[in-house]
Amino acid sequence: LICFIIKVKKVTMQNMKAVVCPEYGSPEVLSIEEVSKPSPKAGEILIKIKACSVSVADRRLRAFDVPAQVWIPARLALGLRKPKKPILGVEISGIVEELGENCSRFKPGDEVFSANLTHFGGYAEYVCLPEDGPISLKPSNLTFTEAAAVPTGARTALHFLKKGQIEKGQKILIYGASGSVGTYAVQLAKRFGAEVTAICSGKNIPMVRAIGADKAVDYKQENFTQDLGQYDILFMAVDKWPFSEAINFLKDGGYYVNITQPIPSIRMMLTSAFGKKKLVLGENVSPGPDGLILIKELIEKGKIRPVIDRVYQLEEIVVAHRYVDMGHKAGNVVIEI
Ligand SMILES: NC(=O)c1ccc[n+]([C@@H]2O[C@H](COP(=O)([O-])OP(=O)(O)OC[C@H]3O[C@@H](n4cnc5c(N)ncnc54)[C@H](OP(=O)(O)O)[C@@H]3O)[C@@H](O)[C@H]2O)c1
Repeated sequence: LICFIIKVKKVTMQNMKAVVCPEYGSPEVLSIEEVSKPSPKAGEILIKIKACSVSVADRRLRAFDVPAQVWIPARLALGLRKPKKPILGVEISGIVEELGENCSRFKPGDEVFSANLTHFGGYAEYVCLPEDGPISLKPSNLTFTEAAAVPTGARTALHFLKKGQIEKGQKILIYGASGSVGTYAVQLAKRFGAEVTAICSGKNIPMVRAIGADKAVDYKQENFTQDLGQYDILFMAVDKWPFSEAINFLKDGGYYVNITQPIPSIRMMLTSAFGKKKLVLGENVSPGPDGLILIKELIEKGKIRPVIDRVYQLEEIVVAHRYVDMGHKAGNVVIEI
C-alpha cells in the first residue's frame, strides 16, 4: 500500500495543468487537461509560469488563420491535421525552477519573461525553453501579469522600427496603433525621437495619446486621410488599409513597413522595383535575447510600459480567446496561471 501511495504521489507530482488545443477550430476546442510536466534537456531551463498572454499568434494557430500565400508551408510546419504542439502560448512570465546541463545565463529563482514564438507551451504551469532564446530577467518594476504582456509585441515593434531605419525628427504613421504591437511601436518611435501619428478607432484615441502619440486619427471617420501629411515611415501594425491608398502618404525614400504580410503583392513589388519607396515586410524577429534585454531596460527606466486590456484566469481561456478573436483588443490580454 505504501509503495502504491508513493507511486501515485510521484505520478501526480510529475503532472501539470495545461490548456490543450487538440484540433484547429473555434475557441471551444481548447480544454484544460493534466499533462506530463516537462523536464529540461541540455541547454534548456524549466520555468514555472505565472502568466501568459493570449496573443494574435495563439488565436491564429488555434484557428489556423494564416495568410493564403503561406497556407501550405504553415500547415506543413504547424501540423497537417492538428497542431503538432497542442499547448499554445507564445509569451510568458515566470520563475526559473530548474536548469538543464550546460546552462549558465540564469539560476533557479530568477524571475524571467520570454517570447517563445517557435516553442509555444505557455498555456501551462511549466515550460522548458532554450536558455539562449528570447528570454530575459523580468523588468523589476512589473508584476508577472504585466510582464507577460511585453515580449512579443515589444520585440516585434522594436525589430520593425529598426528595419524601417527610424531616426530622430522623422514623421511616422502607425496604423493599428492601439493593438499589442501598435502600442509598443508608438512608445518606441517616440523614444527614437520621431513624431508619431497614430491611427485607431475613436474609443482608443485617449489611450494612444496617453502613451505618447503626437496626433491620433479615427480610421472609422469618413475621409480620415484628409488631415494626414507625408511620412518617412508608414508602420502597418494591422493590415486593414489597402497598400494602393496608404502608399500615397509615404515620402520618396521612405519605408513602408508591414509586419503582417510575409509576401509582397505585385503592386508592392513594382513600387519597390521602380519607385523610390522602400518595403519592409513581415518576417520572423531574430531569435536571440538582445531585443528583450533592451526592452527590459527601457521599461525599468520608465520609457515604455505595457498596455493591458483584460486579465483572465486559466479556466477562462475560451472566453479570452473569444475576446481576442474579435480583433479589437486594446494592447494585450493576459492569463494568470
Ligand atoms: N511579423 C511578426 O513577427 C509579428 C509579430 C507579432 C504580430 N504580428 C502580426 O501583427 C498583427 C498585429 O498584431 P497585434 O498583436 O498587435 O494585434 P492586436 O493587438 O489584436 O490588434 C488589435 C488592434 O487592431 C485594431 N484594428 C482592428 N481593425 C482595424 C482597422 N480596420 N483599422 C485599424 N485598426 C484596426 C484594433 O483597434 P480598434 O479597436 O481601435 O479598432 C485593435 O486595437 C497581427 O496580424 C499579427 O499576426 C506579426
